[in-house]
Amino acid sequence: MRKQPTDATVYLNGQFMPAQEARIPVLDRGFIFGDGVYEVIPVYSGHPFRMEQHLKRLQRSLDAIKLANPMTMAQWSRLVRRVVALNDGADQAVYLQVTRGVAKRDHAFPSHVSPTVFMMSNPMSAPARKLVSSGCACISATDNRWLRCDIKSTSLLGNVLMRQRAAEAGCLETIMFRDGFLSEASSSNLLVVRDRAVTAPPNNHLVLPGTTNDVVIELIRKARIPLELREIPEDEVRAADEIWLTSATKEVLAVTRLDDRPVGGGKPGPVFRRVHRLYQDFKRTVMRRG
Ligand code: PDD
Repeated sequence: MRKQPTDATVYLNGQFMPAQEARIPVLDRGFIFGDGVYEVIPVYSGHPFRMEQHLKRLQRSLDAIKLANPMTMAQWSRLVRRVVALNDGADQAVYLQVTRGVAKRDHAFPSHVSPTVFMMSNPMSAPARKLVSSGCACISATDNRWLRCDIKSTSLLGNVLMRQRAAEAGCLETIMFRDGFLSEASSSNLLVVRDRAVTAPPNNHLVLPGTTNDVVIELIRKARIPLELREIPEDEVRAADEIWLTSATKEVLAVTRLDDRPVGGGKPGPVFRRVHRLYQDFKRTVMRRG
């Protein structure tokens, strides 16, 4: 029988233990300030997908918050594989988090403190067939988050409130606009299709550089589908033929309703269907290679 999240095996500061036995001191700066960064790595048939890219982004997040990486890439990689092996399920989502550690409460960084390293893995299932074939509904909002959305920080209150708005509206995500331009969604990146050409916002401080988005962009380039990376005005998004969400756990999904109006024909479009197929093929190839 599959383990419940509470009896999953987690990693905390050098030790493996059942999730319900893992304890963090209340003065951990992750708890007090949200002073930490994280990653979510999808695992298919036991193989971590794009692990190197996730670990490189972790390094960029750590550099941005001036926190030394407590492990080498090889150590991270071994640890991820170990946590996967200790948990049930061929497909899993590994969550890892590094915080600045435990210290007397003071906004300034403490000296000589060890970071807290936590890792868990939860069973993951690919988006339901129906969601892929029908698409999802989203709402929109003004992006009111901070100006360093490129850091994968555990301080996620802005994203949490946006995602909750979507949940209360019976939608999957909130699509955000800042100063009249598309940024990203509560926990996904976005691409837009018009006249069979794909446009995506460039990576900058206003969006998380998505690992799934990178895969999708590589596949689009390989398939020679027209692609432009540039700022996308809100009216262009609202007039799009297709809008797609990407994230490690959602893969690539079509948005078929935005603010209760259909996107394009109200069904996943032809460019989405092609790229979704390419994504599934790519995943299978990578998994076969191991
Ligand atoms: N979220 N933008 C935001 C704000 C995100 O939180 C995420 C992912 C993405 C997509 O990134 P990637 O393709 O690397 O998953 C974009 C993860 C899955 C989460 O917080 O659970």
